[in-house]
Amino acid sequence: MWRCGRYVPPLMDTDPGEESLPVRRGRVRPVSRVLSLFLAVFARHFDSAALEVREKTINVLKANVRLSECRNFVFYEDGLKFYTLAPSAKCPLLHPSRNILRLGRSTSATRRPASVGEAVADRTMAKTVAVIGAGVSGLASLKCCLDEGLEATCFERGDDIGGLWKFMEHVEDGRASIYKSVVTNTSKEMSCFSDFPMPERFPNFLPNYKLMDYFQMYAKHFDLLKRIQFKTVVCSVRKRADFATTGQWDIVTEKDGKQETTVFDAVMVCIGHHVEPYLPLDSFPGIEKFKGQYFHSREYKFPDGFKGKRVVIVGMGNSGADLAVELSHTADKVFLSTRRGSWVMSRVYDRGYPWDMVFNTRFKNWFRNSLPTSIAIWMTNRKMNSWFDHANYGLHPEDSSQWKEPLFNDELPSRITCGYVVTKPNVVQFTETSARFDDGTVEEDIDVVIFATGYTYSCPLLEDCGISNLDVNSLYRKTFLPNLEKPTLAVIGLIQPLGAIMPTTEMQARWVTRVLKGLCKLPPLEKIMEDIAKKKKTLVERFGTRRQNSLQLDQIEYFDELATEIGAKPNIPFLFLTDPLLALELFYGSCTPFQYRLVGPGKWPGARHAILTQWDRIVLATRNRDAKIQQDHSPMLVVLFLLGLFATLIMFVFF
Ligand SMILES: Cc1cc2nc3c(=O)[nH]c(=O)nc-3n(C[C@H](O)[C@H](O)[C@H](O)COP(=O)(O)OP(=O)(O)OC[C@H]3O[C@@H](n4cnc5c(N)ncnc54)[C@H](O)[C@@H]3O)c2cc1C
Ligand SMILES: NC(=O)c1ccc[n+]([C@@H]2O[C@H](COP(=O)([O-])OP(=O)(O)OC[C@H]3O[C@@H](n4cnc5c(N)ncnc54)[C@H](OP(=O)(O)O)[C@@H]3O)[C@@H](O)[C@H]2O)c1
Repeated sequence: MWRCGRYVPPLMDTDPGEESLPVRRGRVRPVSRVLSLFLAVFARHFDSAALEVREKTINVLKANVRLSECRNFVFYEDGLKFYTLAPSAKCPLLHPSRNILRLGRSTSATRRPASVGEAVADRTMAKTVAVIGAGVSGLASLKCCLDEGLEATCFERGDDIGGLWKFMEHVEDGRASIYKSVVTNTSKEMSCFSDFPMPERFPNFLPNYKLMDYFQMYAKHFDLLKRIQFKTVVCSVRKRADFATTGQWDIVTEKDGKQETTVFDAVMVCIGHHVEPYLPLDSFPGIEKFKGQYFHSREYKFPDGFKGKRVVIVGMGNSGADLAVELSHTADKVFLSTRRGSWVMSRVYDRGYPWDMVFNTRFKNWFRNSLPTSIAIWMTNRKMNSWFDHANYGLHPEDSSQWKEPLFNDELPSRITCGYVVTKPNVVQFTETSARFDDGTVEEDIDVVIFATGYTYSCPLLEDCGISNLDVNSLYRKTFLPNLEKPTLAVIGLIQPLGAIMPTTEMQARWVTRVLKGLCKLPPLEKIMEDIAKKKKTLVERFGTRRQNSLQLDQIEYFDELATEIGAKPNIPFLFLTDPLLALELFYGSCTPFQYRLVGPGKWPGARHAILTQWDRIVLATRNRDAKIQQDHSPMLVVLFLLGLFATLIMFVFF
């Protein structure tokens, strides 16, 4: 209807059915549909009142109405999610006096949050999306759904957002668990979401509680909390019987001991992959006889209770190194056992800047990839050993020709050189009180063994839909299952980039939501399988075949690949002509996530400024007093002085 020269879609209006589109039993008159589409487009762009109505409409749809109880009732939907209800006297759920649905929960176990098969005209793409998990990946997915106008509901088993970053004193089943002292190993400019930089005074690397503050700000800013159902576990995800045509899913959730099934058009699985400990006890003969304490690093929370103990830590990933350093301040002795070593990098990199700001630039990435492999390896080895010689510290990686996630620890070399941490090779045998290592040495009187042996992952909640073994490298672009009849299920965050995971999952979510919306198309199956095979080969060449490397990827290539799909990749050659300052920063500066908000859908007006000020924010985090720097004598002057002296000497000798 038109009011004051503005179009207001008729739903929820006080005149029941007055101008509702004449829709009957799932059939839509083409003329009405075209007209409604036109009006809706018009309304969406020019009428804030229409948006208000849309909000109300969504509330109606969220009312979990069982449409099968409501056979004489039909609602109409257009591509922009404006919904119109047609009146029906017989519909038990219809409000008696108005043409709206009565709000309230269905008593049945089957809930339907939105339009479903029989009631909807022309369903070709997803409208309702279940986001499972409210960690980094879930928050990004939820926000991207909302950006695309998808009706998303997020289910989170915990009582807060943030996933593993929410520190808890006790380990909870089915959830990731961190220790109290965890600090990010990726910097704030690289770890933020692309349209929401971290506050400039935040530290460059964030303790977990500070990162949680950032997530809270993000959720508040984009109004995400009201879409999250906390303390709700998703028990299973099942294809519906008509999946081949609708692509819909039954999501079984459990809250307060009560199960419910809800139908969704699409699912984004964001459940993390640091939940199931990998504890290869079979590889450690004698451990069953060991009389001390042993446990996985996931169980570790604080250093209390380790005073005077002799501790063996098995595995030297980031967890093993962090625990070794922390415990070395309390324990009597810490033995850090690594079977194949690792590069150790400092968060504080060249000239004190965060490592990832210096390392992850487009130029360096291009340079590294253009060099012959042997030269690239030689250069990497040189660079990695410039801080300290890894061989002298017993840390040199066994196969340095392949990339393994480096570990970031500013203190480890210092604790080793001071003798508090002793590096050891692999443990070959435990006895009741000792550990024998594969160089033949034995350490006696061991009190505690901590297995910092990493994580494994599976996805039991997908078992009901025939997906028991979620092999990330068999997913198309690490997200979509290739063999589904409809691409309506995506896995987000099952990756381990050489860089921050936050903007990477966000980029996945931006692309996935556009696929769900029907705005991006997946290629034919044959091409998908070709791509998967090609990526598997590259992964092996670059990262090897080890279990824990299977999730790794080259971040900038991956960013660019997905950004190209959605039209958000910046055109740097063109920018060199139109905005050279920005182009220079994009190419030679850090590849911060803001780059992917300069153009395309989700373009953010603050992106250019955020890029050009990223180094300022890095410095602001550390420069809390203005150092009075004495003027250096210019080296040029010294050179000139020496040249002058030399010339005088020559004159004196020869003339
Ligand atoms: C100790 C540690 C430090 C790390 N440091 C960094 C770092 O510095 N930088 C970096 O980029 N990455 C880091 N990572 C990687 C880390 O995985 C990511 O930063 C990120 O937190 C992953 O987020 P996620 O949302 O994918 O998973 P999670 O954070 O694990 O979140 C998953 C969420 O899903 C919920 N959930 C799971 N199953 C269900 C279900 N069935 N129903 C309902 N809800 C469910 C969980 O409760 C949880 O809230 C670190 C990992 C670890 C273990
Ligand atoms: N922000 C932070 O500071 C921080 C802190 C902790 C963890 N994290 C992240 O969390 C993730 C998990 O890290 P993680 O350190 O727990 O696990 P991880 O990186 O997978 O490391 C596991 C370690 O265990 C070793 N290992 C596995 N199986 C073994 C066996 N059978 N025998 C001997 N050694 C074995 C591995 O050795 P090999 O290398 O020889 O296989 C590896 O060094 C990583 O992405 C990491 O970056 C980050």
